Amino acid sequence: MTKFDMGAIASRKTPFYYYDMALLQATIDEIKSLTAGHPVHVHYAVKANGNPDILKVFAKSGFGADCVSGGEVEAAIAAGIKPEDIGYAGVGKTDDELRLGIDKEIGYFNVESIEELVRIEELASEMGKKARVALRVNPGIDAHTHEYITTGLAENKFGIDMSRLDEAVDIAVNSGSLELVGLHSHIGSQITITEPFALLCRKFNDIVERFRAKGVEFKVLNIGGGLGVDYEDPDANPIPDFKGYFDTVFANIKLAPGQELHCEFGRSLVAQFGSLIGQVIYVKQGPNKKFAIIDAGMNDLLRPALYGAHHRIDVLGEDGLPLPLDGETEVYDVVGPICESSDTFAKDEKLPVLKRGAYVALRSAGAYGESMASAYNMRCRNESLLNF
Ligand code: LLP
Repeated sequence: MTKFDMGAIASRKTPFYYYDMALLQATIDEIKSLTAGHPVHVHYAVKANGNPDILKVFAKSGFGADCVSGGEVEAAIAAGIKPEDIGYAGVGKTDDELRLGIDKEIGYFNVESIEELVRIEELASEMGKKARVALRVNPGIDAHTHEYITTGLAENKFGIDMSRLDEAVDIAVNSGSLELVGLHSHIGSQITITEPFALLCRKFNDIVERFRAKGVEFKVLNIGGGLGVDYEDPDANPIPDFKGYFDTVFANIKLAPGQELHCEFGRSLVAQFGSLIGQVIYVKQGPNKKFAIIDAGMNDLLRPALYGAHHRIDVLGEDGLPLPLDGETEVYDVVGPICESSDTFAKDEKLPVLKRGAYVALRSAGAYGESMASAYNMRCRNESLLNF
């Protein structure tokens, strides 16, 4: 159970992100132990949380980076992640961004279209360099998750359509400016069942065998990220089920000698170690309900407004532990101060009775929290607290 450091919290102006660095380390250690002895390389998906101090932890732990913009590539390198351990995905990389990746000699571009492949070749040839590429395929696998974060279906903009893969491979292997290193796919996020991952691995086996028969090898098989976390009970499941994930993957993927498996975890690495800490400003009695108005808003944590996501709300006691729900409780709509009705973190949430000034923790907010925050309503952002 996370015990919050109330001394550190009280010394800060709310709202701010609170990161439990011991949990991050335990999560990293769990992955390292599960993959020890396997040819697995884990790339941290920087988009989940690009806080420079957090990137440094991943760099020190020997993780690579999955980036989706030139800014992320630069941030990963600045944090100490080796360029050769960087994969760079995204459907709309600009010329400047492609040049940056070619110049830094990143591990590979995850190429999302034939049009992009042709442009990378042109730029690499102009620069007199060879660009490494992994072809991102759209495998047509349903990840059974929220429609906004499903990426592996034909109607999604991501990846090269399977019917054009041969053409893409031909271009890559016949170019003097490109080196084909791998195959890539990412089918979606917050995936809480193992079946889609099993299907993806088997799809990869088929593709690998088909091209092997033609004399083409993919050294790297990158199966993306997507493993889900427990948003309702983060203390029961602080570390996501990496064991179930890797058991499924190892049981389904066929790796030839020398072949590497790459994963790109974002949410599963950083969701649970982060909380957004806010304070109650007012408890307002409406005509038919009570509003708990807190000083954190949708600009700090967008997921509830954007996806209808629910983050567990803990009211913190003086000892840093969540107050139990077996005492005096009340039902509230927990809302922020932003001028939109979607600025709502929870409706009809049963919580311990709240008073002005009470500290609340919006849990599981380490992933896609700080990184999606904005200054909407010209709100200042307070520095995050790393608790070691
Ligand atoms: N690789 C690629 C190419 C991706 O696009 C993503 C996430 C990942 C890896 C990491 O996926 P993860 O392990 O975190 O599921 N903002 C949304 C999530 C968007 C995910 C975008 N792509 C949310 O807050 O739920």
